Amino acid sequence: MQNIERDVVIVGAGPAGLTAALELKKTGKTVAILEARDRVGGRTWTNTIGGATIEIGGQWISPDQTALYSLADELGIETYPRWKEGASVFIDHDGKRTVYTGEDFPVGEATVGEIDKLIAIMDELAAQVNPDKPWEHPEAKELDTISFHHWLESKTSDPVAVECVGLFIAGGMLTKPAKTFSALQALLMAASAGSFSNLVDEDFILDRRMSTTMQGVSLKMAERIGAEDIFLNNPMLRLEWSDDSVVAHGKDVSVSAKRVIMAIPPNLYTRPSYEPPLPRWQQVTHQHQSMGLVIKVHAVYDRPFWREQGLSGTCFSPSSLVQEVYDNTFLNDPRGTLVGFVSDEKADAMWALGEEERKTAILESMAAFLGEETLNPEVFYLSDFGSEEWTRGAYATSYDLGGLHRFGPTQNDAVGPIYFASSDLAGEGYQHVDGAVRMGRRTAARIVAELDGGSYDESFDGAVSPFVKA
Ligand code: FDA
Repeated sequence: MQNIERDVVIVGAGPAGLTAALELKKTGKTVAILEARDRVGGRTWTNTIGGATIEIGGQWISPDQTALYSLADELGIETYPRWKEGASVFIDHDGKRTVYTGEDFPVGEATVGEIDKLIAIMDELAAQVNPDKPWEHPEAKELDTISFHHWLESKTSDPVAVECVGLFIAGGMLTKPAKTFSALQALLMAASAGSFSNLVDEDFILDRRMSTTMQGVSLKMAERIGAEDIFLNNPMLRLEWSDDSVVAHGKDVSVSAKRVIMAIPPNLYTRPSYEPPLPRWQQVTHQHQSMGLVIKVHAVYDRPFWREQGLSGTCFSPSSLVQEVYDNTFLNDPRGTLVGFVSDEKADAMWALGEEERKTAILESMAAFLGEETLNPEVFYLSDFGSEEWTRGAYATSYDLGGLHRFGPTQNDAVGPIYFASSDLAGEGYQHVDGAVRMGRRTAARIVAELDGGSYDESFDGAVSPFVKA
């Protein structure tokens, strides 16, 4: 066992932990990162599979994600646009396939009117919600104790409109059934992206990608931090703490430090043991955040054949097994890649099948959108973060019904020298890499102010680096 000393020990080398380390180092603070996996990047992860570059985890950046843009800029990483040219495909409840252009789903005029009405209501409410403090909304309790599904049903009698609007937040974002989380949780998701209209606009929310892949952002940060301060294959198993110091015990290194940043997803806070135990309120709060579940499907073909038919590769169907499909061809790759998403209960059903049966079911669902050629990819790969010990789901965590207004107010409070930083505790950029970057910067700024006797501006949103490199 190696024993080392640092100013700050960081648990987790995902985007939040690495950003915090990068910022702390700019002020001359010494850091060590304990990372459980054999790689950095956390829920952002790229592999070459069958010769194709596959972004297994997070990958897209949207225009409102200014913190991530500023970090990419600092690291010299460029972005490129997702392929969007061509018509989209929609499959309705009865299995009818329609090729369409424009923003509205082809679901009939009356339903389009109801969808627009729901979006307008969501936009108005989201504008009233401070993403950092959604529990301060005057109707927070009412909105947090009704499921998103039932709340939508209270606003319209059109079940197709409820299903279509639910798709964007339930299947598309929180990856939980719309009956299991609250309307307030849905509004936080909308407010964190600027508006609900932004969330339902795939051209906005899935706008661009990183030329290095998204994991490349973490790899570049790790390069700047230095390998000597990053301890891979070292899950933190035990944390000893007092009022102003900690000892973080990894598998084969122990770090004594003044502060610790828990830069891991909230569902994993209970994994290490704490000596003494965390106080009651913090033990209870984080139990109420659980991971959603989604299968990200990757299918690579010899060419992007759908483009030859004037199709963009963008497909939607709230009632299909694969609810969303996009052209996900990597920068300058002559082959064509499709990405699809199988969410929540549909993901449960898929993992219950054998490998071949699962592959057939998923490809048949995608072929219903884009035709027979979809059935025969050269590479087929399913992202399975549910089986990853150090994540346990995808994309991120959210509160169960009623949890956000009840436990949210204390979720970011430090416990003595212990700080919490995760994209899942962010306001702006909630559940996204942008939110992880903001949390990393904000937590670093809080710790520097505390250690150096300075002040911390609570309104700092993490959009830009708080420290200039010395
Ligand atoms: P993250 O989970 O990334 O990192 C935490 C780290 O802590 C991990 O490296 C883990 O191994 C480590 N760890 C856990 N327990 C530990 C312990 N006890 N000791 C030491 N280390 C420990 N976002 C986005 O912006 N655009 C997108 O397109 C997508 N899409 C997407 C797809 C999929 C399939 C997933 C799973 C996720 C996304 N996301 C996304 C979400 C995005 O990836 C996520 O918000 C960030 O990676 C979160 O960064 P954090 O650093 O907060 O946690």
